Amino acid sequence: MLDKLANLHKLCFPHKPWSSNDFADLKKSGCDIIASENGFIVWRTVADEAEIITIGVNPDNRKQGIATAMLTLVENELKKSGVKKIFLEVSTNNFPALNLYKNNGFVQISVRKNYYEDGSDAILMEKLI
Ligand SMILES: CC(C)(COP(=O)(O)OP(=O)(O)OC[C@H]1O[C@@H](n2cnc3c(N)ncnc32)[C@H](O)[C@@H]1OP(=O)(O)O)[C@@H](O)C(=O)NCCC(=O)NCCS
Repeated sequence: MLDKLANLHKLCFPHKPWSSNDFADLKKSGCDIIASENGFIVWRTVADEAEIITIGVNPDNRKQGIATAMLTLVENELKKSGVKKIFLEVSTNNFPALNLYKNNGFVQISVRKNYYEDGSDAILMEKLI
């Protein structure tokens, strides 16, 4: 399962693929993962806050609502367990992801200048649930 996930991650993030060991380490460190043939989402919960660590959808299956469905699923699970806030970080260059998050009710709360290796800024976003 983790091998398939690593293959899918490579399709989504060709310049920075995570290995199956990276995913195993994330699970060991307490992260939750939902993965299917077409997409994955990884998040971490601490007390009543959660952070989306990453999300990806197979390039062949994008723009079909898969990422939105995964975000909604996670949000509903988090609500049930008493989480009040979800955070995430996204590059200013990543228009599909920025649109995805804005469309799903996330709002910008701060900017980290030159945060990513390509020199782009990170936008920190939050959603109260
Ligand atoms: C970002 C990503 C997860 C979106 O997955 P997806 O399943 O295609 O997203 P959805 O179909 O649920 O799209 C929801 C909204 O996101 C926005 N969006 C998605 N793809 C977009 C694109 N290529 N350009 C602009 N907006 C886009 C749109 O607002 C869309 O709503 P709409 O279809 O009503 O216009 C996907 O493009 C991906 O895997 N990218 C590479 C990995 C990545 O960058 N992950 C995020 C790291 S922060």
